[in-house]
Amino acid sequence: MSFVITTPLYYVNDKPHLGSVYTTIICDAIARYKRLVGEDVIFITGVDEHGLKIQRTANDKGIDPKTHCDEISEIFNTNWKDWSISFDKFIRTSSYKHELIVNEFYERVKKSNDIYMGVQKGWYCVGCEEFKDNPENSKTYKCPIHQKNLEWKNEENLFFRLSKYQEHIEKIINEPSFIEPIERRNEIINFVSKGLKDFSISRTNVSWGIPVPDHDNHTFYVWFDALLGYVSAISLKEKVHSLNNSINGGWPADIHLIGKDILRFHAVYWPAMLISAGMKVPKKVFGHGFLTREGQKMGKSLGNVLDPELLLSKYGNDPVRWYLLKDISLGSDGDFQDRRFVDTINNDLANTIGNLLNRTSSMSRKWFDNKVPNIEEISSENKLANLAKISVDQYINKFNKYKLDLAANEVLSLAINTNLYLNDNQPWTLIKEKNKLPYVKEMIYNVLESTRIIGLLLLPLLPELSSKINEQLGSIYQKEVSWKKQLKWGRLIRNSSLPKPTPIINKLDYE
Ligand code: MSP
Repeated sequence: MSFVITTPLYYVNDKPHLGSVYTTIICDAIARYKRLVGEDVIFITGVDEHGLKIQRTANDKGIDPKTHCDEISEIFNTNWKDWSISFDKFIRTSSYKHELIVNEFYERVKKSNDIYMGVQKGWYCVGCEEFKDNPENSKTYKCPIHQKNLEWKNEENLFFRLSKYQEHIEKIINEPSFIEPIERRNEIINFVSKGLKDFSISRTNVSWGIPVPDHDNHTFYVWFDALLGYVSAISLKEKVHSLNNSINGGWPADIHLIGKDILRFHAVYWPAMLISAGMKVPKKVFGHGFLTREGQKMGKSLGNVLDPELLLSKYGNDPVRWYLLKDISLGSDGDFQDRRFVDTINNDLANTIGNLLNRTSSMSRKWFDNKVPNIEEISSENKLANLAKISVDQYINKFNKYKLDLAANEVLSLAINTNLYLNDNQPWTLIKEKNKLPYVKEMIYNVLESTRIIGLLLLPLLPELSSKINEQLGSIYQKEVSWKKQLKWGRLIRNSSLPKPTPIINKLDYE
């Protein structure tokens, strides 16, 4: 059994923004964690390339949509590599393989008698690629997300019989584990209780899309096409690219991680489409919050968009990851504040974790011949070992519930407690008394051992910092031994060499 996790498939109207980086980093942390606990992970990301929005973006640039998509998709792909995102599959919805799956899926839905021709009239937001209930029924009304006017549409489209699945969807969304967090579930329950309406799945005025097989001039509605990217991604590398291969290769997804604005598509339309095609529904849809900057919505017109590439080159991967994972509670909105960012990184990573390792390794090297102290016996009956055990248990518990901020806080509190243990015991004073040497040895061993555990716990959250901690302790992680086993107290080898300490993280300055 695989563990399948997905990011949304991002629109290629522009290169990745901080919102897309945020979702992708969260998925990456979860994927890494699941691999460490022994799951066979399929981490899917990719791009959503069809539809009116992309067609227009390309037209505005004066190039054909395919050339535009090739260019931006490549930027996404390399950006994720620059951020060390450990994705397994990258799906492009303009690929031929994906088209095959969409066609196969459509045939199944048609066989269920869920497709019919109708007339679609309504106000459309091209930014969302979605029909909206326009409360004022007017041209001047703006979509609250994109701040752009809606467009009136009136055309013959193929429809999907969503209304048929009312009861089925009610049952699914009432399952407490299906939609998280709970506030989002309530929004959806409320929406569904008003009665589901059939929705159109084809367009006649959009040439940049997958042609509907039996209807000239119709292309599939971009969402009907894009959601299937999650399925087609699974069999990307198979020789035969078919719906069955994807289903057998790991479907259904264990978790779709998405922003709150696209929850309806994932928690209502998508499950109904899947049931119609005789497929399983995803196990969980998690809607995260929105990022703002210094309390304001980010937008080109406001001129306050934070360019993630700039953040990465200026601060590096780990500081940005730490801020996004630890400072924002998954599911709630978050704010990116420059000062808070610098303070958080300096306090948590440089002063608390970095300094702990640096000073302890220096003491150990100075007093014990550049080595880990050669203690008589390793005992897990000590204060620090107990604290570490509690932190490890809590961390695992929080991670399993996707409370990544709380898991990160567990690591931090173990580091804080370890620093306190040092300060309380003052080995730098005790070392001056000869008869206290055994105590000092034990203390330093315990602190180094706690630091080793901190490093291991950081593996899914901050892979780069974690590997630096490992190097500073003499490269002691063992790939062949399970991560959980390595989290047990006492695996640091007595009398092993400690390399010369170098700072594992630099302090940041305010601009
Ligand atoms: N293409 C669709 C998804 C199709 S999935 C089959 C799409 N793409 S998007 O590029 O517009 O948005 C991708 C994700 O970015 C969404 O989950 C959206 O919620 C998220 N975000 C957009 N702005 C955001 C913030 N300011 N903060 C956090 N996430 C945000 O929708």
